[in-house]
Order: sequence, then structure tokens, then C-alpha cells
Amino acid sequence: MSEIIEEVTHRRARRAIDESKPVPGETLDRMIEAAHMAASCSNKQPWRFLIGDEGEVRETLCEHLLGGNYWAKKAPVLIAVATRERDDCQLNANRNYALFDTGMATAHLILQGTKEGLYVHPMAGFDAPALKEALGLDDEVILVTVIAVGYPGSEEHLNEKHLESEHSERSRMPIEKVASRSAFQFD
Ligand SMILES: Cc1cc2nc3c(=O)[nH]c(=O)nc-3n(C[C@H](O)[C@H](O)[C@H](O)COP(=O)(O)O)c2cc1C
Repeated sequence: MSEIIEEVTHRRARRAIDESKPVPGETLDRMIEAAHMAASCSNKQPWRFLIGDEGEVRETLCEHLLGGNYWAKKAPVLIAVATRERDDCQLNANRNYALFDTGMATAHLILQGTKEGLYVHPMAGFDAPALKEALGLDDEVILVTVIAVGYPGSEEHLNEKHLESEHSERSRMPIEKVASRSAFQFD
């Protein structure tokens, strides 16, 4: 019987990351390669990744995380993801594909990392204007996410809410709301 891809079912946005176990460079390279194999509109490949696995880049990304992402400061690797609308198809009816394609590539990266036994947790909780300035990015660049990457570790440093979520069931809307054979369902 056919099953859902294992990495899809195993992946969760977990936070108990081991700060003392480094992520090998080859593992990160495979994650980036997986991302770079994603489909994109007219093969535009608008995704850009900045890998903070040591030194200044990691420090800069870390400094700009918002308070709720305190747990991610322990991650041995932080990866910033960026794109620009002009680097991808911009079609009629509001179809600008840069974010879509960058999201697809990021999903590949996350699933590859999951397969490698890592927690790979994307975040929107960072000070985007300040981080853009720190990285010398102009207005056109969309800093989409910063991703925390690391091996599973102790839960000791997690607050109560995050501790609970670490062991929670996956929470999703009813599937009938997001998929239909008759019509789209928007509120
Ligand atoms: C674009 C995006 C931004 C997110 N931002 C944060 C964040 O800043 N901090 C955080 O702890 N989790 C963040 N998450 C994780 C989500 O909260 C999580 O994916 C969601 O609750 C579903 O849980 P699951 O991934 O374990 O299925 C983000 C996820 C995505 C895709």
C-alpha cells in the first residue's frame, strides 16, 4: 500500500535543539542541493540561501531573532532565505511566483534535513527591517524566513508553552476545508 512520504509525516516544527552537536557541512550541502532541485516558473530559481553555520553570519541572524524565538539562539545553524519578485515570473491576476517558488525550495530543504535526523524549523519571528540593513540588502529583497537547524537535544531550556507543543499532536483544519472536489472554500 502506498503511504505518505515518511519525512512529511515525521517533520514537526520542534524547538529542543542540541546546541553542542554541530551539523556537518556535507549535510547542509545536501539540504541546499535538495532545495535547488525544486521546480520554479520558467526555471527562474529565485531562491537565495545564506548559511550561518559559524562566525559572523550566524551571529548576525541570531541577534535579530525576536524574543519568542529564544530557543533558536541555541541552534548551531541558522539559514536565512531571501528572494526578489523580479527574479521570477510576474504574471497577470496577481501571480508573482518568487515567494511560491522560494517556498517550494525551502520545503525541499526542510524535508532533506528531516531525513538527515535534524530539526529544521522556519521562523517569521525576526526583525526583518533591521536584519535586512545588517546584511546590506536593499528594499527589493524579501527576507522570507530564518530557519533554525540542529539535532534533537534537551528540552530543559523550553518554556512551558513550547514544552507542551513539543509533544502535542499535529494541529490542522479539517481537510474538507482545504480540499474539495466541487469548489474552493474561503471564509
Ligand atoms: C512561515 C513560517 C513562519 C514561522 N514562524 C515561526 C516562528 O517565528 N517561531 C516559531 O516558534 N515557529 C514558527 N513557525 C512554525 C509554525 O508555528 C509551525 O509550523 C506550525 O505551528 C505547525 O506545526 P508543525 O510544523 O509542527 O506541523 C513558522 C512556520 C512557518 C511556515
